[in-house]
Amino acid sequence: MNNRAQGCNFCKVVFDLQFFCTFDENIFLKRHNERLNLKHLTGLCNVPASDIIGILDMAAGFKKELVTDNPSFKTTLSYKRIALVFFENSTRTRFSFEIAARHLGAGTLNFSAATSSVSKGESLSDTIKNLEAMQVDGFVLRHPCSGAADLITGITSKAVVNAGDGSHEHPTQALLDMFTLREYFGTIEGLKVIIIGDVLHSRVARSNIYGLITAGAEVGLCSPVTLMPPDAAQLGVVLFTDLDQAIAWADTAIVLRLQLERATGGYLPSLEEYSVYYGLTDERLERIQKHLLVLHPGPINREIEISNNVADRIQPPGYSKSMLLEQVTNGVAVRMAVLNTVLAQKSNS
Ligand code: CP
Repeated sequence: MNNRAQGCNFCKVVFDLQFFCTFDENIFLKRHNERLNLKHLTGLCNVPASDIIGILDMAAGFKKELVTDNPSFKTTLSYKRIALVFFENSTRTRFSFEIAARHLGAGTLNFSAATSSVSKGESLSDTIKNLEAMQVDGFVLRHPCSGAADLITGITSKAVVNAGDGSHEHPTQALLDMFTLREYFGTIEGLKVIIIGDVLHSRVARSNIYGLITAGAEVGLCSPVTLMPPDAAQLGVVLFTDLDQAIAWADTAIVLRLQLERATGGYLPSLEEYSVYYGLTDERLERIQKHLLVLHPGPINREIEISNNVADRIQPPGYSKSMLLEQVTNGVAVRMAVLNTVLAQKSNS
């Protein structure tokens, strides 16, 4: 294990990139530094290895039960109410948090910005205060602004879990990726993990960089220079622009979604060209004779960052093995562990 990810330089870079974010930077940085002992989970920056490994171990116990025919769990969160506050669309994160909460006996309240009073101009902080006044015990927040989850830890005394905030962090996605890698390889320590694609806009990349490095992995980033954050080299990662070289270096790959909704088009000559140079395909893996374990957070842009064959191959033969659906299953176990951790701590504090 090491602490190369502890500096949080990347967070500052990301924050500076948020043109649309109106939050006060001092509040953001203050909250960020107050993340202690997982009272909340707003990111993996500064979360110690012991907490990360503790969550993965707890999730491993949950997964054993989850894959049985009739999973049954101790309802450690019975009588807790968890608000799933999503200001952006989601399939995997939203449903897996809901399933995770129900397995542990918690009730869930689903909030969608489009059908709430946000559409009448209500602010994020007023929304959170009003939900808290209804005796909600915890918040799972997805929001387009970087720093939103950290901001609301200063507004509510309840537990806050970040389900993805702008281009900042998506900690439960990284934890489920780490869980998937640890389950397959037996360890994270010493693994060479290449993260491919739109690193600049990716909260998944940021959380994985922090978490994987803290847990002792070597992390490489491969993207066109226009999609690489300018200060990426300060993070203790290996940088590549050539995908063949990056794959040859790595034990496993996390392929990122090209975030077309965040205007990545302006960073690339064309999607076709991106696919030729950065798309993960059978032909590329065969040409460089590399067998690769492939992860992707989803949703996928088929035949852009990943070919159908690579995305869908869950069994050999072939040069790749896809973990995409295994990741989704693992997401339920990991989110159970996260909710159990932060909500149990809140009730004891
Ligand atoms: N990986 C992920 O966050 O997917 P959703 O946007 O569907 O939640």
